[in-house]
Amino acid sequence: MHIGLFDSGVGGLTVLRELKKSFPKAGFTYLGDTARLPYGNKAPETLRKYTSQNIEFLENHGVDLVVVACHSASTVALKINKSPKGLPVLNVIGPSGEIALKATRNKKVAVMATKATIRSQVYVNYFKELDPTLKVIPQECPLLVPLVEEGLMDDEITDFVLTRYLKPIQEAGADTVILGCTHYPILKKQIAAKLGTAVELIDPAEAVAQQIATDHNPKDGSGRLDLYLTDHAPHFLQHAESLLGGVPNMQFLHPES
Ligand code: DGL
Repeated sequence: MHIGLFDSGVGGLTVLRELKKSFPKAGFTYLGDTARLPYGNKAPETLRKYTSQNIEFLENHGVDLVVVACHSASTVALKINKSPKGLPVLNVIGPSGEIALKATRNKKVAVMATKATIRSQVYVNYFKELDPTLKVIPQECPLLVPLVEEGLMDDEITDFVLTRYLKPIQEAGADTVILGCTHYPILKKQIAAKLGTAVELIDPAEAVAQQIATDHNPKDGSGRLDLYLTDHAPHFLQHAESLLGGVPNMQFLHPES
């Protein structure tokens, strides 16, 4: 099986890391739309356009399944279960909501996400339907994506920004926090250090892998990883190496190729 994923930049690599771990023999094609990053500040119409272009790109590069490895894009892809050519399309919203619902004990769930994701109300609507007594604490974190893209995970600027973003979550007493942007698991250690061990951090990657295992059982494939970036991204390789380790068959390609 060959699995396609896309994100605006390095964030989707956190989902790819989990999929590669779960399906070591599968092939992967990753598209980082770095030319149009960030997605998190874009309007829904723009995200819809980018999302369908990216799905089409992956479809034309021989994948069997598409994972929208970006929450901001997933907000406009909730109802897209199939690509134009009929390939299955998965998003990251449902899996995050599902784990958070199981994890929370005090029914206070914070969502850290981009402006696009928070403003779409996607999580508020998700929980309202499944448990109306659950309180959602939304927290826009627009500065985190550029900080991660710049590789500033252990920098004092990031520390300062995290303190600011996490304060309302701590004050509200959330016991569960959805990392509602695929870039944020890269900051998991730093977020956990501030929130403490009593707060559960939710990363949907494992649940996405579980869903693929159940529905598609990808046992074999080329074992190859093709990475496409729509523009240069100085820290991409560094992130790819630290998240994926040594990837023997990794090749960087240009979208026109
Ligand atoms: N990693 C993405 C997300 O999950 C996109 C972030 C961005 O480009 O702003 O929302």
